[in-house]
Parts: sequence; structure tokens; C-alpha cells
Amino acid sequence: MRKLWIDTDTASDDAVALLMALREPSVQVLGISVVMGNVSLEQAVKNALISVERAGTYAPPVYAGASKPLYRSTDFAVVCHGVDGLSDRGYPDAKLQAKGQNAMEAMLRCARENPGEVELVTLGPLTNVAAAAFMDPEGFKLFKSITIMGGALRMPGNWSPVAEFNIIIDPEAAEAVFHAGVPVILAPFEICTGDSLFAQEDRDRLAAASPTGAFAVDCNLVLIEYGKRLGLNGLCLADPAAMAVVLWPQIVQEKQETYLCVETAGKYTTGMVIYDYIDHLHRPKNGTVIQRIDGKAFKERTIRCLS
Ligand code: BDR
Ligand code: CA
Repeated sequence: MRKLWIDTDTASDDAVALLMALREPSVQVLGISVVMGNVSLEQAVKNALISVERAGTYAPPVYAGASKPLYRSTDFAVVCHGVDGLSDRGYPDAKLQAKGQNAMEAMLRCARENPGEVELVTLGPLTNVAAAAFMDPEGFKLFKSITIMGGALRMPGNWSPVAEFNIIIDPEAAEAVFHAGVPVILAPFEICTGDSLFAQEDRDRLAAASPTGAFAVDCNLVLIEYGKRLGLNGLCLADPAAMAVVLWPQIVQEKQETYLCVETAGKYTTGMVIYDYIDHLHRPKNGTVIQRIDGKAFKERTIRCLS
């Protein structure tokens, strides 16, 4: 069975991605590390534990990690996900407890115990992952791959004119992870738009599918309203789209192997992902960019998985 480790700044779309991974029978989630991002570290840990409990399957250990970016101050995404990250619906805390504050050690231990086997999936800023790569560069290289929800390559940014949230919150961390020697698979923001948007009809089907599906819609009510302000005709689920690329790779319709790096010192462009699509820079390829997914299949498989 495929083995996953998930790093998350758990807010409403991270919650759906966690439900998907924990309910997909072909993978086993060995652990979950939590990072600040959409919400504070403390709130993100609470939300991760709520999500694990709501999945109703099994409970991998949850570890707290970084409470701030490597060098910068941070900015929470209250406008997208609500104050508590789950649309302020008053969900009770989970009964489960986190295993402690040692996310980086736990992630590295998992890579060393399962050399070349663990697929890392990141749904938030890359602070925990960069810190792990700095702590033990050789151990870190024992991860099989890193699928990153990050960047906005074929559309404007969602947190600056050119940058996506997960990258701009800690651009130095993202730049370090792109060059840490593990193949990167980048799932940029635009793959959750267009046909991948959950329209009212899709949301109704998901909500009616099961209590888990109902939770997936309910915790995203603030994100639905935020999307309307951006002119999006439906719920944009960035982290679930990245998770779907991992769980169901057959939904990928177009991808390109390329050199990837992050602007860390731009006057206007800090946090922008540089995607060297025709090899201007002549650098060794360090990643694969997902350019297009089958949005309909993504939604169908997600609804089925949460039913
Ligand atoms: C990313 O930022 C957050 O709002 C989402 O959880 C996702 O990880 C999208 O830019
Ligand atoms: Ca996230």
C-alpha cells in the first residue's frame, strides 16, 4: 500500500483533503504534521484533529510544528476560512490529542524508517518541511516525492498579484524545499478552478452523500462566499485538488517536467513561483508541474470517497 505523510495548516479545504486521504483505501497516512498558515498553529492542530475524527476511519499521529515562518512575520487567511479556519461553525474540539511539538523529528523518523517509500503531501506554507530538510538533509532525501499545493502559474496570484498563499507566507522555505533533492510535484492553484469548481449542484450532492460530505461543505461556507468576491462560480478546493493528484493520478491530463524556483527578493514579486517552461535558465529539472486535471473526475471521485 502507498504510504503518505501530510503537512497541513488545517483550515477548511485542508480538512476536506485530510478526509479524502484518510478514506482512500489504497493509501495509508503514516502521520500528519501541522504548520501555521491559514490560522495559528494552535488552531490548525485543533482543526487537524477534528478532521481526523470526522473522517471516521483511523487516526494517524498528529504533530505540531512551526508557529511562524522561517524569517518573516505571518498573515492569517481569516477572510477565506473564518477566524477558526472552519467557517466559525462552532464545531466541538476533537477527543483526540496531538502527539507533541516535534513535527520535524517525526517526519524525518518516518522517512528513515521507510526509505524511498513515503510520499509527502504539503497543503500549507513549507516551513516545517524546509526545517526538516535543514535538520537532516540526507534523511530528508529518503522521501519518495513531495506533492505541493502551491503557486499560481497560469492565473494571477491569490495573495498578491503574482503569488499564491502557501508560497508567499514563507518563500524562503519554499525555495529551500524545491532544492532539497526530492522530486517536487507542484499542484498550482488554477487546477482547482474552471471545471474543478464545486458548483451548487456538486455541493448539494456532496452534502447529501454522508455526514462526512455534509461537514466538508459546511466547514467551507466562508470560502464559498470568498470565492464569489473573486468572481469564481463555485467552491474552489485547492488542497483537495492537490490531494486528488496524489490519490488518483489518472485525473492528470497535462503535466511538464521543469526547473522550479521561488522569487524571495522581488520588489513586487516575492513569493512568485518561477516555472522555467522553455528552459531559459538551463538548470537541472527539479519538479513536475501539474497543468490540467479532469475537473469532473476530480469532483466525482471526491464525492464518492466522502460518501
Ligand atoms: C492555499 O491557501 C489556503 O487558503 C488553502 O488552504 C490552500 O492551501 C490556497 O492558496
Ligand atoms: Ca492549506
